[in-house]
Amino acid sequence: MAQAWAFALLALCYVCSSINGERSFLSTRDPAAADDSDSDSDSSIVSRKYRTAYHFQAPKNWINDPNGPMYYNGIYHSFYQYNPNGSIWGDIIWGHSVSTDLVNWIAVEPALEKGSPGDILGCWTGSATILPGNIPVIIYTGGDKDDRQVQNVVLPKNLSDPYLREWIKPANNPVLQPVGPGFNESQFRDPTTGWIGPDGLWRIAIGAEVNGYSAAVLYKSEDFLNWTRVDHPLYSSNTTNMWECPDFFAVLPGNKGGLDLSAPIPNGAKHVLKVSLDSRDKYFIGVYDLKRDAFEPDTIEDDRRLWLKIDYGNCYASKSFFDSKNGRRIIWGWANESDSDADDIAKGWAGIYAMARTIWLDNDGKQLLQWPVEEVETLRRNEINHQGLELNKGDLFEIEGIDTAQADVEIDFELTSIDDAEPFDPSWLVDPEKQCREAGASVHGGIGPFGLVVLASGDMKEHTDVHFRVYKSEQKYMILMCSDLGRSSVRPGLYTPAYGGFFEFDLEKEKKISLRTLIDRSAVESFGGGGRLCIIARVYPVALVDERVHLYAFNNGSTTVRVPQLKAWSMATAQVNVKKG
Ligand SMILES: *[C@@H]1O[C@H](CO)[C@@H](O)[C@H](O)[C@H]1NC(C)=O
Ligand SMILES: *[C@@H]1O[C@H](CO)[C@@H](O)[C@H](O)[C@H]1NC(C)=O
Ligand SMILES: *[C@@H]1O[C@H](CO)[C@@H](O)[C@H](O)[C@H]1NC(C)=O
Ligand SMILES: *[C@@H]1O[C@H](CO)[C@@H](O)[C@H](O)[C@H]1NC(C)=O
Ligand SMILES: *[C@@H]1O[C@H](CO)[C@@H](O)[C@H](O)[C@H]1NC(C)=O
Ligand SMILES: *[C@@H]1O[C@H](CO)[C@@H](O)[C@H](O)[C@H]1NC(C)=O
Ligand SMILES: *[C@@H]1O[C@H](CO)[C@@H](O)[C@H](O)[C@H]1NC(C)=O
Repeated sequence: MAQAWAFALLALCYVCSSINGERSFLSTRDPAAADDSDSDSDSSIVSRKYRTAYHFQAPKNWINDPNGPMYYNGIYHSFYQYNPNGSIWGDIIWGHSVSTDLVNWIAVEPALEKGSPGDILGCWTGSATILPGNIPVIIYTGGDKDDRQVQNVVLPKNLSDPYLREWIKPANNPVLQPVGPGFNESQFRDPTTGWIGPDGLWRIAIGAEVNGYSAAVLYKSEDFLNWTRVDHPLYSSNTTNMWECPDFFAVLPGNKGGLDLSAPIPNGAKHVLKVSLDSRDKYFIGVYDLKRDAFEPDTIEDDRRLWLKIDYGNCYASKSFFDSKNGRRIIWGWANESDSDADDIAKGWAGIYAMARTIWLDNDGKQLLQWPVEEVETLRRNEINHQGLELNKGDLFEIEGIDTAQADVEIDFELTSIDDAEPFDPSWLVDPEKQCREAGASVHGGIGPFGLVVLASGDMKEHTDVHFRVYKSEQKYMILMCSDLGRSSVRPGLYTPAYGGFFEFDLEKEKKISLRTLIDRSAVESFGGGGRLCIIARVYPVALVDERVHLYAFNNGSTTVRVPQLKAWSMATAQVNVKKG
């Protein structure tokens, strides 16, 4: 039955009009503006040395939200909001790249361009779903002639094409319009991947503003084309007015394996609703109440500043998908530039994605953990290894022997005592960035700051600090993790916050606090406490262009910290949407 139904859907697709206009193939030969040769001594922002070497990026120009990630017939697909005409937002089409390992990517033809009634003003963010009969479908937001946000579907033209290069818009688009009580027509976007409910019908959620408040509006359908609004949202909140890019998935506490939301959900599973707002991706953990057909968070914080974040740095509009090849859930998000629009125009490119990360739920079901997909480790070269280091207050230990501009560092810190932990003040939770700003790497504490200094100039005028401080709360320890960009570059006009967040840690049980940092030229992506807290940051040190950058481990707290294990690698350059060779 599924097969017959899928065939009907495809047949329907063949009669509809194909995408108009010329496809501007994302040429792998056309050199990006930033490819223009710059000499080693050119310290200007256009230097190619700021291009990341193994994070996902377009061959050139602007990218923002990741769209429709999926694994299909042996291939990973990354679609992305892409401006073929420049390096600031505008003229958005869907770029498309394919990969077999989530590390090396081949750019293929754009998948979608605006032009039909349902997307005459633009084709924006959406998600992929694999329908019965193994047919992928994408549902995405378009702008219609009245500037309303509507939802459209597209299907692959040729399922035998391994890269699914061409996508067809059925004539019944748009399939969903912002009609119904309370809707704001210009705030109705970013549909999730579909899932099948207990009644066998498809569900999707869409970010919307309803009666002035934020909602993940819920729809049902039998065939993915004819949708009916459910009389209540999947979840809503009157503490904010719009959620973008909702993502909804199931996880099992303490289990790194991912779950397919359309498959039967095992007992004990929890559900996660992620939403994007305030330039951050925030999430709730709870249960999907099948009777009410609604999401119920375990705890509700009225103050949105207390909502948990996927990443405490520069990461937005993330999207996850179930990787059926390896049975894991993978997430990636967009990290924009921290330089100016004028810099981006001069560079000819803007935007990267955070590394593809495996995402799962902690044992106690209280927070998500993330870790770079293991495929990233194939880029590791010339490992260096240190054991049994001891870092006293004021110590700076230089990590040498690898390419410090393109590296992967894993370091464990062990406290020699927990007596000097300063008391934790819960009021800090609403603004950890303030804590990081005020308690920088040079402000001595009881336990910490200790961590890494990356992308440092020889004279230390430029450096990015990634560090921890340990505080004693009533029953537990709270760790503040910061990625401080305050002195990351001497170049003026950059956005240089001190990113940060807190996580709970059972120091008596877990002794070691781990830090993994991926250094990739203008990207510093850190995973603290085994992936409990992630921070991606964008930095542009002049030293990266002009000289050799340095990497250190340091401690500036009164308590001595041991480093039982420190491993670091140079990272090879991946083939990310560039020609081979
Ligand atoms: C890119 O710019 C050209 C020239 O202005 C325009 O014709 C074309 O439609 C633009 N592309 C898109 C996808 O908007
Ligand atoms: C579909 O793709 C396959 C594999 O690339 C190709 O052999 C076949 O000719 C394509 N069919 C059409 C109708 O384009
Ligand atoms: C809809 O949202 C837009 C953008 O936030 C806002 O400017 C407008 O006032 C809203 N319209 C209504 C009717 O609430
Ligand atoms: C769409 O679905 C609704 C609800 O199931 C149904 O009443 C309606 O007839 C369907 N419309 C079409 C065109 O299939
Ligand atoms: C906001 O939501 C809360 C909890 O659902 C409810 O108690 C409260 O009355 C709502 N406030 C407004 C202004 O709608
Ligand atoms: C992008 O970068 C700027 C700083 O340059 C920041 O203020 C903004 O919030 C960032 N994020 C998004 C999602 O635009
Ligand atoms: C440690 O603190 C000292 C004194 O405040 C400061 O000069 C030094 O730069 C700090 N170390 C790091 C890595 O920030």
